[in-house]
Amino acid sequence: MANPRRIVTENTRLSPLINLLKKPQAFPLLLFFFLFLTWITLRLQHSSHLSSHTKKSHHHHPDSEVVDEDDKANLVRFGSTSISPIRKDDRGWLLDPVTLARDSQLHGGAASCVSIHVGEIKPGGLRGNHRHHTCNETFVIWGAKTRFRLENHNVEKGYAEVLIGEDEVAVAVSPSGTAHAIVNVDPVRSTFLIGCQDSNLHNSSSSDYKIWKDL
Ligand SMILES: *[C@@H]1O[C@H](CO)[C@@H](O)[C@H](O)[C@H]1NC(C)=O
Ligand SMILES: *[C@@H]1O[C@H](CO)[C@@H](O)[C@H](O)[C@H]1NC(C)=O
Repeated sequence: MANPRRIVTENTRLSPLINLLKKPQAFPLLLFFFLFLTWITLRLQHSSHLSSHTKKSHHHHPDSEVVDEDDKANLVRFGSTSISPIRKDDRGWLLDPVTLARDSQLHGGAASCVSIHVGEIKPGGLRGNHRHHTCNETFVIWGAKTRFRLENHNVEKGYAEVLIGEDEVAVAVSPSGTAHAIVNVDPVRSTFLIGCQDSNLHNSSSSDYKIWKDL
């Protein structure tokens, strides 16, 4: 039960304010108050919209640090500037893609290099974005900041994507029937790649092209 005396004291305390609000001079004050509330609401909506937008576009930002794990993209990476499995002394690095992929527990790559493609991707350039149905492929990618995307239906978006650093050398495998794409996201350097396939692709009908529309 409410204490009647308490209600009375509260009313007395509030009455000067109520009296003020009853006067016509209070109108601009009230107007200002509601404008202020509206402004706050709009600001909050705007900032929450901005942050959700940032989150959504995160995966497509070239410099994004939030990417998938390497194993989801069938990829291993090595530092090329320090002593590592690909750089055993100060001469630089050297590797055998097929052996290195196998030793790194990457499954589904080419067991031998029947057909080899060696190439450069200039800044902003894209290679792949296709799916071969008649060969397994093993890649070596290095030289620039590069985005590697591999079809993977265990990942919600249908693919896994990683960012290879300019000083890293990556070995990745794309089993037959798996789409892949390599995008140079570096402002100045060229990406270099070797694609090793375990069969000769005879014609274009054995591949699907332009898999991902956002690339
Ligand atoms: C690809 O690799 C699989 C095993 O992972 C093998 O069965 C197949 O013969 C290989 N080659 C082609 C062209 O699919
Ligand atoms: C293309 O290759 C596939 C097998 O990979 C074969 O079935 C098809 O007949 C070939 N098409 C042409 C036009 O050679």
